[in-house]
Amino acid sequence: MWWCYPYEDCMTDPVSRETPEPPDPPEVARGVFGDSLDTAVRYAGLLAGAGVVRGLIGPRETARLWERHLLNCAVLADGIPAGGTVADVGSGAGLPGLVLAVHRPDLTVTLVEPLQRRVDFLTEAITELGLDRVEVVRARAEDLHEIRSFGTVVSRAVAPLSRLLGWCLPLVGSGGQMLAMKGASAEQELEGVQGTLRRLKAGPAAVVWFGQGVLDPPTTAIRVAASVRRG
Ligand SMILES: C[S@@+](CC[C@H](N)C(=O)[O-])C[C@H]1O[C@@H](n2cnc3c(N)ncnc32)[C@H](O)[C@@H]1O
Repeated sequence: MWWCYPYEDCMTDPVSRETPEPPDPPEVARGVFGDSLDTAVRYAGLLAGAGVVRGLIGPRETARLWERHLLNCAVLADGIPAGGTVADVGSGAGLPGLVLAVHRPDLTVTLVEPLQRRVDFLTEAITELGLDRVEVVRARAEDLHEIRSFGTVVSRAVAPLSRLLGWCLPLVGSGGQMLAMKGASAEQELEGVQGTLRRLKAGPAAVVWFGQGVLDPPTTAIRVAASVRRG
């Protein structure tokens, strides 16, 4: 299903609820995370432990935590300006928002998540990892319209682009951007929302890739610049 990219089977995984240790980080993780690798390893441990036990991530994901989750989220940081504010809409277990917070301590990150069970996990993870520029807001994105705005609004596996645009673009501040992680059909999805982009008075939109030459495959995202506001 489209909204479950990139782990189509993770929320309904029927395999046992045992929680194996996460695999050691692959060599590429050292290059991507640099000094924050130790914290990323601890976050991987939380995902493989409490994250699996509480049903936030499928047990089968444990073996591929690095390639399919942590690394592909971390490279998104290349598209976010230094010292910026970031909202992760539909953060779930913290993907990509918590990964960005771990990887880029210069960012101020807001994790937007409506479900209490996930909010609890995120709150505990922030404390456990000692992250001090991250907050969790229990809300739907649309509840924050005209209340909050951010330099970059990121998302992964939350909704089709047409709906995501309506939820996320109003949260993007002047000069900011939306970065929606998407799968192989990103070009097609973007093509299908041209009318919505016009209606929302969005700025330029394009498919962009992160981690090229580092990750295989690289991370695909749709970047939409802030709405062109009137007046
Ligand atoms: C499939 S999960 C993806 C979680 C995470 N982004 C990831 O990639 O693992 C979708 C998440 O979006 C959240 N969500 C659904 N509708 C939302 C909305 N209107 N605003 C914010 N979050 C929403 C859900 O509660 C859920 O945690």
